[in-house]
Amino acid sequence: MAAQINPSILSADFARLADEATAVEGADFLHVDVMDNHFVPNLTLGVPVVESLARATDTPLDCHLMIEAPDRWAPQYVEAGASSVTFHVEAAAAPVRLAREIRAKGARASMALKPATPIEPYEDLLPELDMLLIMTVEPGFGGQAFLDIMLPKIRRTRELISKHGLDLWLQVDGGVSAGTIERCAEAGADVFVAGSAVYGADDPAAAVRALRAQAEG
Ligand code: DX5
Ligand code: ZN
Repeated sequence: MAAQINPSILSADFARLADEATAVEGADFLHVDVMDNHFVPNLTLGVPVVESLARATDTPLDCHLMIEAPDRWAPQYVEAGASSVTFHVEAAAAPVRLAREIRAKGARASMALKPATPIEPYEDLLPELDMLLIMTVEPGFGGQAFLDIMLPKIRRTRELISKHGLDLWLQVDGGVSAGTIERCAEAGADVFVAGSAVYGADDPAAAVRALRAQAEG
């Protein structure tokens, strides 16, 4: 699969979200970080903002739920217009049921792992998912330094995906930039979230193109 770049609006101006979405036209998905101040120590936005954003842009939305009780909330983000919904396995009560529900409602189902959560216990769940997200920072804030110690986990996950012959996207999120994206791609990631590296650039759309070119080597 060609490399995908998903700009994270966490690094955008929240008072101008529609314009900020337009500024990265050409991106594969817009990454929307939902935080509840319980699962992570930060608070961002919820269902009504996602509903409005889905109407304001043609770019599909990739909602990353950093919240407690995703079993209750994730389906509502599909109804709000998200094309892909990611829940954290550390917060989900019933990840298989939840992934099936997200798919049944018509979105791509994705599961995220915090840095200290291993992939191995979840090998048998992979066929239930359309994407797996490996966090390369502790979730909660943009602009943090990329954790190089996550590269072996990315590599092992890519091996599991190949071993099972799955069509599963492998996303990385946190500290992805011109300085780190090549290492992620080499380890086997194919979907790259970038917040500060895109919205901190003078020309966000050009930053998306440059990151994609770098990831594709
Ligand atoms: C962090 C969020 C990320 C964040 C990435 O918890 O999940 O999506 O926006 O920002 P950067 O790319 O600046 O690390
Ligand atoms: Zn995110």
